[in-house]
Amino acid sequence: MSQKTVTLNDPATGKNLEFPVREGTLGPDVIDIKSLYGETGAFTYDPGFTSTASCKSSITYIDGDKGVLLYRGYPIEQLAEKSSFLEVSYLLQYGELPTKEELESYQTSITKHNMVNQALKNFFNGFHYDAHPMAMLTAVVGSLSAFYHDSIDINDPESRELCAHRIVAKMPTIAAAAFKHMIGEPFVYPKSNLSYAGNFLNMLFSRPTEPYEINPVAEKALDQLLILHADHEQNASTSTVRLAGSTGTNPFAAIAAGCAALWGPAHGGANEAVLNMLEEIGTVENVPKFIAKAKDKNDPFRLMGFGHRVYKNYDPRATIIRKTCHEVLTELGMSNDPQLELAMRLEEIALKDDYFVERKLYPNVDFYSGIIYRALGIPTEFFTVLFAIGRAPGWVAQWMEMITDPEQRIGRPRQLYVGAPQRDYVPLDQRG
Ligand code: SDX
Repeated sequence: MSQKTVTLNDPATGKNLEFPVREGTLGPDVIDIKSLYGETGAFTYDPGFTSTASCKSSITYIDGDKGVLLYRGYPIEQLAEKSSFLEVSYLLQYGELPTKEELESYQTSITKHNMVNQALKNFFNGFHYDAHPMAMLTAVVGSLSAFYHDSIDINDPESRELCAHRIVAKMPTIAAAAFKHMIGEPFVYPKSNLSYAGNFLNMLFSRPTEPYEINPVAEKALDQLLILHADHEQNASTSTVRLAGSTGTNPFAAIAAGCAALWGPAHGGANEAVLNMLEEIGTVENVPKFIAKAKDKNDPFRLMGFGHRVYKNYDPRATIIRKTCHEVLTELGMSNDPQLELAMRLEEIALKDDYFVERKLYPNVDFYSGIIYRALGIPTEFFTVLFAIGRAPGWVAQWMEMITDPEQRIGRPRQLYVGAPQRDYVPLDQRG
């Protein structure tokens, strides 16, 4: 079958230029414009990359119109119901569901690497108790390369794999240490006999002074939430990890850059912003006022947890989390949680409003997740940290794919220059 192409008529020369069209397994084709600048002297212009594929990938597929999300081809609904976070982490990194032996070996490796160097604990003493936990997480993850020199050789497959395991294994330990620093309690070490989610809950909430029993409802809900956050194609933080990694920097530094990008309220910081928004709205009676603010172009207020660059339908993760939210709050005896009630009324009113319907603004992954986190006893400012723990396997899988892609070069976008034309320096005593 002949190569599909797109023809561009170059007004500068009147020439017709042909660009190859590349087809994927699923989703939109791409027009390969690598030669455009060389042939026309012009760049494409796409701020926010709405129409731009930055890479080819086989990890995650999203169909925004149909609300489809696949990790290595497996629907998120099936993985959320039947898999576990570490199995999904393996799937994202290695491309296939593990055999029993492969999963056990992976789980053993993650458990083996979940401790952090004792010297790393000293960093937390440098933070005030009210430091934002994402500030602590970003800083401490970035410092890991100072300790684990034997896993930063990006050209060595074994080093890459060891680093990937270390990142997945250590994120909860670092996150829990940040939490304990915030509340002034002693750090709790990971235990090798606990599940990934159970270990995290134990490191967050157990104290040396009394026994702590992991609530199985919380453990299961947390594991599912981590699955739902594990990867999401070329979102802002993943693209940041790829761009940072494309310079050849070590993977710990690239993941720290991803943490920094995720922190923004337009991205992973939205789960924290949703709860703050619900607090601000306060009661169902105030919902219409805030809906009006969200629609007002002169008001910077946006309905946090609503809208998505890709999903122009329900975010499938939001549908699953909404269901889990009801189940968890009921099982925890909190089914009449006022925040849940308020969130549901807000969703109901917004989805009947033309402004949101016309713009296809639906609840996204962040709209309900914070309500579950709060029910599990996790403070609002800590929600994005949980998003980062969940996204870590996706970040490392995408980083590894980028590093091993023969087509990949250092990411270096160009620009449309609209600044001053060349001009000569004016001495200070001659300026107006
Ligand atoms: C995540 O990319 C990913 O995959 C991200 C993520 C992942 O898993 O990695 O899914 C995680 O980041 C989810 C999104 C969390 N962010 C929020 O919930 C913050 C609130 N949402 C918005 O800031 C916004 O919807 C974005 C940032 C999510 C998407 O922004 P876009 O694609 O740039 O959309 P846009 O700003 O061009 O909006 C289109 C229109 C605009 O109105 P008009 O100019 O056409 O009149 O919709 C409006 C926007 O003003 N709009 C909103 C809105 N979101 C968009 N209006 C009110 N409230 C909102 N939430």
